[in-house]
This record gives sequence, structure tokens and C-alpha cells, in this order.
Amino acid sequence: PSPTHDTDVLVVGSGPAGAAAALFLATYGTRALLITKYGRLSDTPRAHITNQRTMEALRDVGLEERLMREATPWEYMGNTTFCTSLAGEELGRIPSWGTDTVRHADYELQSPCTMLDAPQTITEPVMVQAAQERGARVRFDTEYLSHSQDDDGVTTTVRDRLTGREHTIRSRYLIGADGARSKVAADLDLPFEGPGAVGGAMSIVFEADLSHLVAHRPSVLYWMLQPGAEKEGVGLGVLRMIKPWTEWMLMWGYEVAAGPPTFTDEVVRELAVALVGTDDFEMRVKSASPWTVNHHFATTIARGRVFCAGDAVHRHPPTNGLGSNTSIQDSYNLAWKLAHVVAGTADPSLLDSYDAERAPIARQVVERANQSIADTGRILQALDLSDTTDVGKLEAQLALRKAPGPEGEKVRAALREAIAYKAHEFDAHGVEHNQRYASSAVVPDGTPMPEYRRDPELYAQPTTWPGAKLPHTWVTRGGHRVSTLDLVGKGSFSVVTGIGGEPWLEAAAELAAERGLTITPVSIGPGRPIEDPYGTWADLREIGDAGVLLVRPDLYVAGRHAGAPASADAARAWLSDVLGAVL
Ligand code: FDA
Repeated sequence: PSPTHDTDVLVVGSGPAGAAAALFLATYGTRALLITKYGRLSDTPRAHITNQRTMEALRDVGLEERLMREATPWEYMGNTTFCTSLAGEELGRIPSWGTDTVRHADYELQSPCTMLDAPQTITEPVMVQAAQERGARVRFDTEYLSHSQDDDGVTTTVRDRLTGREHTIRSRYLIGADGARSKVAADLDLPFEGPGAVGGAMSIVFEADLSHLVAHRPSVLYWMLQPGAEKEGVGLGVLRMIKPWTEWMLMWGYEVAAGPPTFTDEVVRELAVALVGTDDFEMRVKSASPWTVNHHFATTIARGRVFCAGDAVHRHPPTNGLGSNTSIQDSYNLAWKLAHVVAGTADPSLLDSYDAERAPIARQVVERANQSIADTGRILQALDLSDTTDVGKLEAQLALRKAPGPEGEKVRAALREAIAYKAHEFDAHGVEHNQRYASSAVVPDGTPMPEYRRDPELYAQPTTWPGAKLPHTWVTRGGHRVSTLDLVGKGSFSVVTGIGGEPWLEAAAELAAERGLTITPVSIGPGRPIEDPYGTWADLREIGDAGVLLVRPDLYVAGRHAGAPASADAARAWLSDVLGAVL
């Protein structure tokens, strides 16, 4: 640790991106100081869908079980319902987030982790507390004001909001995880693309026991086709489960130009009654807040010693549930790189790969989430409605849906198809898993990226192609089932090989000692520390028994050699080249 720096990495913001950055850095033993503007973590539930990729990152740092204890489990997430109100007519359902019988297998095949529902009121405290336990320092009521960087570090000016006093913090690196109105991103003058604010929405959190209306069709989301529902907002009215089935978030749109409404008790009650569809329930409002439906992403997400993560660089609606997931995964990508550079085991140029790898993801998730709002329009089109404000037409079309004859049949078929298409929002497993990286931290092996055999947004396709995440499958250690993902990660590089791959393991041990690194040896095969009794690893690995994968601390394949090394020297030369290129 340098005496001239107050900390190695200063993290601004305690949302999913900042909390995760502090967590991963602290886990890797890097000094981190997290500052956040308010005297608390998130006071509203906000993002909630937590996908398998995020859970894999949290499993890697030992937090999976802690989060699962507090979250709503996978089996409650699935029956996304389209209706006129909870008590009203149901238009259809789509099994979601891998809970459909067939899709469930797809999800289980990809990951040792489950999907789960955990609002930010759960995830932020879990991550920040663990970060603190592992040595990260946290300062509440501390506002980022500005920064300047030089060859040796970053000087950040902050204001203590309790005393009003300003002071500076000197760090080697700075992470701007300060959300959609990021001052750090603005100060870096990051270039953004996309139309910006495209709609307004309000979120009202309330307690009400609605079990009798939903417990028979458990879901995270219930979507309401009501007069005016498609205006702005997320395409329809929404009731979202916060706690099954007693706490809810209501979402409804408002016109950005007109500005957010005033949340009087009457306005709030009227909306809740409309979406629930009866008025025979008691409710207690916990919060009401407007937010902007954004379509905005940065095309450069870092400059010099300053890196932005999360909503600071990708701003999009909650559709597809990518908000906090992408934010946490940004930090998972960045943290091991910073840890290695701070420890002196990697050249600072490794940090350039953060922008190369994550900026394309920012664009992809923003476009996907906004496309999902547009796709909800297919439900209106199926009913031959251009909007829902013509109540007479709306009612006539809903009646037609139940009428015999070809007209009714056409509407029914079109509606089924429009709802099924929403798999691109509610079962977009490929969007979550098929993130591939091309950068200086990945060494191509000369093979083209495998073609997708099915829709790459809907279906995850595992591969060991350099730049893809290591495939998961179940193998055994001492007879006990472990995931291939459990064999790697934990802040270190790994070499994964099999019978005949001993030269790779010897080369890895030598190079690790020379470079002051830990490289985890993984040998899979009969009589080896890890066995493949189901034979599924052999099916997935795309290399021979004596080939090798070099896996990064974030579980991504950095390099691949398909066959046995020609000699011990050749193994050493190859591994040295690949490690050298990455680090
Ligand atoms: P986030 O905004 O969570 O955190 C930013 C942090 O920076 C905060 O701790 C803030 O206090 C701090 N900060 C800001 N400026 C600072 C400064 N100058 N100095 C110090 N600290 C500063 N997404 C989703 O997927 N599903 C959903 O249902 C919802 N719902 C939802 C509702 C509402 C009301 C909002 C506002 C947002 C959502 N979202 C959402 C979006 C989701 O919340 C968002 O994608 C993630 O929180 C992004 O995480 P970040 O950590 O990047 O930013």
C-alpha cells in the first residue's frame, strides 16, 4: 500500500454497481473506500430480478446462500400474467424466468445457480455488509463533487453532508458508480448515444394482502391492459410483487412533457384500485417516486484511471430485468483487473479491456430493454387497438376475443402469439448468458465464434471459445458434485486440463511463482482430483483430454489450446505467451 494514497480504489455510489465493486475488490484484498451521498442504502425496492450470471458472481465470492435466504425463490417468479386487472379478465400468461417446464431444463443446464427475486433493499445491504467484513471502508453522507487525475492517481473532492465541509481523497483509481445522473460520467465527458428520456413512469410501493388474487398464479409481474395504460411508462400498467403477496410496487406511465404527477392519497388509491380491480382491500403506501424511461448508453465507459459502471453508463427501463444485473457484472469484470494492477501482477494496460468488453454490453442491454417495451405493443395490435383510450373499442375487442367465429379466432390466435413473443423479455436466457468479449484480455485461438444454433437472445449457448464464460456442468470431487464454475474464479486464474495435460499444470506452477500470481490447477478425468462421471464436461469442453483452457478470475476463458502440448517447453511457451498477452 502506498502511503501517498488514502486508498487504492475509491468507489462512488452504493447501488448495485458500487456495492458490488467494493465487495469484489475487498474480497480480492484490494483497499477500497466506498462513498455514498445519502445516510442510507436504497430506501425503495427498485431492481429485483437477479439472474444466474449475477448469482454465479456472488457464489464465487461466497454470498449465494446469504442472498438466497432473504430473496423470493425462483418458483414464485413465473406466471407473468396479462389481464385487465387482478380481479378482472385474464388475457393470458407466459411462464417466465425459466420456470416453464421445458425452459427450466435450459436454465438448469447453464448454471449451478437459480434465478431469484431480490430487490435492492435486500441486495445492497448484503453486498455492502460483506464488503465491510472483508475490509472495505464505507462513508455515508459523502458526496462526490469533482476529480482530477495525473500519472500517479486521482484526487477526488467530496463534501461531507453532515458538516458541509469539503475535503479531498487521493486514490490510485476511481470508479463512478453514481447512477443514471452520474456526475463522474459527466465530468469525464463520456460520449452517449440514444434518444435519452423516452417516457415517464411512477413507482408506488404499498402494503396490501392480495394473496387471494395471485397466490394461485404466483408471479413477479402482473400486467394490466387499461384505458391509457400504454401511454409512456413501460407499455402497460404493472403490479410487481415485492413480498409475496403482501407488498407491491405499482407502475404507471406519465407524459414526460407534462412532468410527474402529484402523489396525493386520492391519486394513489385510485390507481391501485384500478389495477387490483376491486376496492375491498386495505393498503399502506410506503413510497411514491417518478422515474424516467431512458434509452441512453455511453460508447466509452472509462478514461485513464477513472471507470464508470452501472446506470452511470447504461440507462434503460426495467424490462428484461437487466438493471442491477448488468451493474453487478460490470463490477465483476472490472474488479479483478484493478486487483491485479494494484498488486503489481498485471500491467495497467489490462484496464483498457474493461471498456472494450463492457461498452458493447451497455449498448446491447439498453437496446434490448427498450425493444421489450415496443414488443408489448404487439398485444395491442393483436386486439387491433392503436391505443386503449377509446374505451368502447377496447371493450368491443375484449368481447370479440370471447366470441365464436373466424374474427374471434383470429384475435385469440394473434393474442396468444403476441404474449408468447414476450419470451424476449421474460425468458431471454441468451441475453443473460451469451455475453462474449473481444479485447486484449482474451487471446483468440484462430477459430471463429461458434454459430448460434438457436435464437441467441432466447437461448444460452455454452462454449469454451476464448471470450466466452466457462461452461457450467456438474463434475465430482471425492464423489461430491461440484460445478465446473466452483473449480475456478475466487480472484485467481485457473488452468483446466485433463489426462495428459500435466505439462500445462507444471508450466502454470512455474509461471505463477515467477509472476507472483496464484494459478489454480484443475485436472479433470478418471483418477484425477476432479472426475467427470456424467461425461458432460467431455461433451462441453471443445478440447481434447490433454488440451487446456486458461480461465480468468471472472470465469471467462482467456485462452484455449485444443490438443496436447508438443513438449513441456512448448506448454510453458504457450501459457507464458497467453498470460503475458492478458496481463
Ligand atoms: P444506483 O442508482 O442504484 O446507485 C447510485 C448510487 O450512487 C446511489 O447509492 C446514490 O446515492 C449514489 N450517488 C449518486 N450521486 C452521488 C454523488 N454525487 N456522490 C456520492 N454518491 C452518489 N431496474 C430494474 O431492473 N427493475 C426495476 O424494477 C427497477 N425499478 C426502478 C425503480 C426506480 C424508482 C428507479 C429509480 C430505478 C429502477 N430500476 C429498476 C433501475 C435500477 O435501480 C438501476 O438499474 C440500478 O439501481 C443501477 O445500479 P447502479 O449501482 O448503477 O446505480
